Amino acid sequence: MTIQQRARARCHWMPKPDRSRGPLYKTLVDQLAADIASGVLKPGDRLPPQRLLADALEVTVGTITRTYREAERRGLVDARVGSGTRVRGQHSSIPGFHHLSRATDDNIDLSLSTPIVSVQRSQQLADLMQQLAARPDALATSLEYQPEQGNAAMREQLATWLGSQGLPMGPGELLLTEGGQHADYLTLQTLVRPGEAVASDALTYPGMIAAARQLGLKHLPVPMDTEGMRPDALERLCQQQRIRLLYLMPEHNNPTGACMTRERREAIVEIARRHDLLLLEDGVQYVPADFRGQPFYRLAPERSLYIFSVSKILAGGLRFGALRAPANLMPKLSAALRAQCWATPGLPGLVACEWLASGLADGIIDWHWQEVRGRQSLLRERLAGYDIQSHPCSFHAWLHLPEPWRAVDFVRRAAERGVILIGSDPFCVGSQPAPQAVRICLTPPPDRAALDRALQQLGELLAQAPPVQAMPI
Ligand SMILES: Cc1ncc(COP(=O)(O)O)c(C=O)c1O
Repeated sequence: MTIQQRARARCHWMPKPDRSRGPLYKTLVDQLAADIASGVLKPGDRLPPQRLLADALEVTVGTITRTYREAERRGLVDARVGSGTRVRGQHSSIPGFHHLSRATDDNIDLSLSTPIVSVQRSQQLADLMQQLAARPDALATSLEYQPEQGNAAMREQLATWLGSQGLPMGPGELLLTEGGQHADYLTLQTLVRPGEAVASDALTYPGMIAAARQLGLKHLPVPMDTEGMRPDALERLCQQQRIRLLYLMPEHNNPTGACMTRERREAIVEIARRHDLLLLEDGVQYVPADFRGQPFYRLAPERSLYIFSVSKILAGGLRFGALRAPANLMPKLSAALRAQCWATPGLPGLVACEWLASGLADGIIDWHWQEVRGRQSLLRERLAGYDIQSHPCSFHAWLHLPEPWRAVDFVRRAAERGVILIGSDPFCVGSQPAPQAVRICLTPPPDRAALDRALQQLGELLAQAPPVQAMPI
């Protein structure tokens, strides 16, 4: 048997490239796309190792490297050190970055970090709308074009409410945005130039990975431990690379739940000052004041931006949030927002700010914390003995899978049992190895009984041995 025949026998994906149709790597990527579309290759399937496919097709390894790289750029596959190159899920053009529920009558979706839906919330919104209907002046103002920094009265209301929650800031420091993702994107787009680098926890919010990728920014992972980003690793990275902005989630990292101590925050500020980094703190995964440490904008106001959104406390569909920025950056950010969309829309802003300012929202938010804490206890009870990391007020928990489970298999098996989860891949920055862990979101089920059913399924699955892997020769 020749090397080529042996390689062909071992390749579970064997394209037949049409060498007359332009560059070979492009033809191979087109065939890969067609095989994914026709179901020959399924989400999670692993592509053959590069050397093997190169031998099988009698081409250079460089051609296959280029093929896989182009396939990744086109969003067809994900490459990870240690787990190879795999076909991406259908729900995302950016890895695993989806936001719409996949719950059906037959399954329970634990993949999304969304607030718990309550009757109380719908009732409050209805009451609020009635109150606003009786205020034609406020409604008329909200329908006018808004200033690019956001309506002054709304910024005033929001600043007052944030102050009451232990987040003191002046209305002039706030720029109103269409939620947290908008603020993340706007900040990167305005303050980091294409080709420059941002850094974040090695496991981070997929929306930040998507934004950096979309903008053509270098995104560098900083190794973490149970307290989040490691200052020694950050220092080393800063000595090797010029980093413009550091993205942080100090209260509880999404997905791992890691929370930064005061000492760690101070160590990071010290590094940021020495290497002149901007600090972008994402506070969207909001926690009550008693569970919050000192925000970065209070430790280093001159270089820190802070993101607030109502998405996790009222409703993601309102698309309302705010960015706190130092005074010298505000004109640039406002001008960028204006170039994008003139200003954030007035009506959602009016609803969100009145909801908060009226005190009505406080009741829902308190109920919400209690319910989240109840669900966290349920999780600890149902999955007792497993390696779970979380924050008591977090919507999600990070489950390190016991040996020899692999995340991709666990997600697939859970789906067969009607429980939708996401594994670690979408949270990984760059091509570093993905840990064998899954994120379990506790908030999407309508009630604890539904969550309990899903957790029992996961408990039964964990107690089983994982499926035997297909054995390549
Ligand atoms: C850390 C983090 N930032 C930003 C967002 C997006 O927030 P928004 O819905 O307000 O755009 C999310 C949503 O899950 C998040 O977890």
